[in-house]
Amino acid sequence: MSHPAVLETERYVTKLHAGDHTGHDMAHLDRVRRLAMHLAEGEAVDGLALTLAALLHDVEDEKLGRDKGLVARHLDTLALNPKQRTHILTMIEETSFSKGRSPSSRESAMLQDADRLDAIGAIGIARTFQFAGARGHSLYGEDNPTSAVAHFEEKLLRLAHQMHTDRARRIARERHAFMLTFLDRFEAEWTGRDI
Ligand code: ADP
Ligand code: NI
Repeated sequence: MSHPAVLETERYVTKLHAGDHTGHDMAHLDRVRRLAMHLAEGEAVDGLALTLAALLHDVEDEKLGRDKGLVARHLDTLALNPKQRTHILTMIEETSFSKGRSPSSRESAMLQDADRLDAIGAIGIARTFQFAGARGHSLYGEDNPTSAVAHFEEKLLRLAHQMHTDRARRIARERHAFMLTFLDRFEAEWTGRDI
């Protein structure tokens, strides 16, 4: 049986992320949570704080245009101790790629790894094209810095080297290799090298 704070939070994010087509839907949150729990297995970490942070990590994403303070307000409705509340807020702050922060706890390292694992591999490729479509970006263009394929160089191909845990590094290696295979095929078909 799930902790009441987890049930409350599941309800909250299911409503908030409904209808998202930018790669931040409920399925992303479920995968990040599952990956985070996998990384945490057998480790002495705060599983409740990590679960809540995984569910809430994209609530205030700037790209989605949401208000600052939403997560803090939601946490205020849950019966958490002040230390857990701060820990969750810090983890979420540190998981953002653009802010470039280093994780300050084991849980934070696991959340960052989990979120980044979901940005690479087959799902990562799919999310990138979904995001690009939602923003009206092109698939690719030689001089186009905002295409979906440009995002691979910009971010995705760097993520596998930035994992903090051994388990994530192992998963990332395979996902990274698959992205390279994909990019090679994409280039072959784009240029006609394969015909
Ligand atoms: P996260 O859930 O890790 O915070 P982001 O908010 O950075 O991920 O982005 C969500 C998804 O959209 C990711 O798979 C990411 O690679 C993709 N994405 C983000 N920015 C871009 C972009 N400029 N072009 C294409 N895809 C993007
Ligand atoms: Ni995310």
